[in-house]
Amino acid sequence: MPIDQLPAGELESQLASLDAEYERLGSLGLSLDLTRGKPGVEQVALSDALDGVLQGNYRAADGTDVRNYGGLDGLPEAKALFGSMLGVPAEETLVGGNSSLTLMYLTLDFALSEGLRGPESAWGNEDTVKFLCPSPGYDRHFAICEHLGIEMIPVPMLDHGPDMDQVEALVREDRSIKGMWCVPRFSNPTGCVYSDETVDRIARLGRIAGEHFLVFWDNAYAVHTLYDDAPALASIRHRCEEHGTEDSVFQFGSTSKITFAGSGVAFLSSSPGNLAALKAHLAFQTIGPDKVNQLRHVRFLQGEEHLAAHMRRHCLIIRPRFETVLETLDRELAGTGMGDWTVPRGGYFISFDTRPGLAREVVRLADAIGVKLTPAGATWPYGRDPEDRNIRLAPTFPSLEDVRATVEAFVVCVKLASIRQRLAEN
Ligand SMILES: Cc1ncc(COP(=O)(O)O)c(C=O)c1O
Repeated sequence: MPIDQLPAGELESQLASLDAEYERLGSLGLSLDLTRGKPGVEQVALSDALDGVLQGNYRAADGTDVRNYGGLDGLPEAKALFGSMLGVPAEETLVGGNSSLTLMYLTLDFALSEGLRGPESAWGNEDTVKFLCPSPGYDRHFAICEHLGIEMIPVPMLDHGPDMDQVEALVREDRSIKGMWCVPRFSNPTGCVYSDETVDRIARLGRIAGEHFLVFWDNAYAVHTLYDDAPALASIRHRCEEHGTEDSVFQFGSTSKITFAGSGVAFLSSSPGNLAALKAHLAFQTIGPDKVNQLRHVRFLQGEEHLAAHMRRHCLIIRPRFETVLETLDRELAGTGMGDWTVPRGGYFISFDTRPGLAREVVRLADAIGVKLTPAGATWPYGRDPEDRNIRLAPTFPSLEDVRATVEAFVVCVKLASIRQRLAEN
């Protein structure tokens, strides 16, 4: 029965048993951690064959010796492979170092400080620069904006992507909005996949928002499905072509959650003009990326078929962790009115909403018994969740047993906080 309909006596008796359970959990000396979206050790081990895959053959397909300097935008075969992951041609792809976050920072900082289309176009020429931040969203995107002094405007994240009515209204009325973050497939943290209509409307934003507007299309989980029926994502590039807005989108991706999170390969794509401008800027920072690692990845991942099989092995490792979390939430909380959660078909996260005003309290209760959760508020710009509801659950890194123990402790904390709140309201 929903908690709102329970009589006070019933709430009191549930509280007594929850208090006892919480105390028991506290005495176990737990040390559990469900905070960061990292691949687990079994997952990174799937790519151990990267080590040695070159077998002394350092020549790329065009004869380039990858051990030497050069190739600012990456090896041609790496551009082809990773371009195909983003659904773009090789010549519209730049392959960089190990982190897509670095490429996002580079692009944003460049547009802000120097301007993609010359100094006149630098966002920083204006007093205020704003970004739209679908929320809940990815804390490191928000951290980049905060660090660079960009004002963040949260917009609601719906089941099929950002609330586009709001997005369009905002960019129409406020020219200081220069960009927007998007994680279009298996978004961090809700796991939603943007619908075809949402992709189309985002591609059209360049027409509404002005020529300096940039969409940061962070497709970090492009191939990270948990189920075969996971929704596909429409091609933003094709939609941009239709609307003539190719200059308004930068796409990003990486192999961080395909091979090694710490030494994978990151890539981006945009229009030829944008790429040329960014490359000219990048040339001041580096003579070229780590092409040895790029070649290792190309040889290891060997085209899309092998990539699909590799991602299936990831899925088989992490799907049971997701299902453990979801089964426990269902069993313990469904129909209680104590929380809502997403059921993602891919990606790395489950997003949980407590009753309003309880996310911080749940995280605090969990922490006090040795269960670390992502700090409440982290999924919102400036760490400010207006309703104090959202908690991001990241089940990939801990062992299956630890995931189970963590989520069982988590539901006790959710129930405890919810029932205490209800009793205090009475
Ligand atoms: C949406 C999103 N983008 C980017 C990253 C980090 O990517 P990279 O390792 O390529 O810097 C993450 C990591 O969790 C992520 O969730």
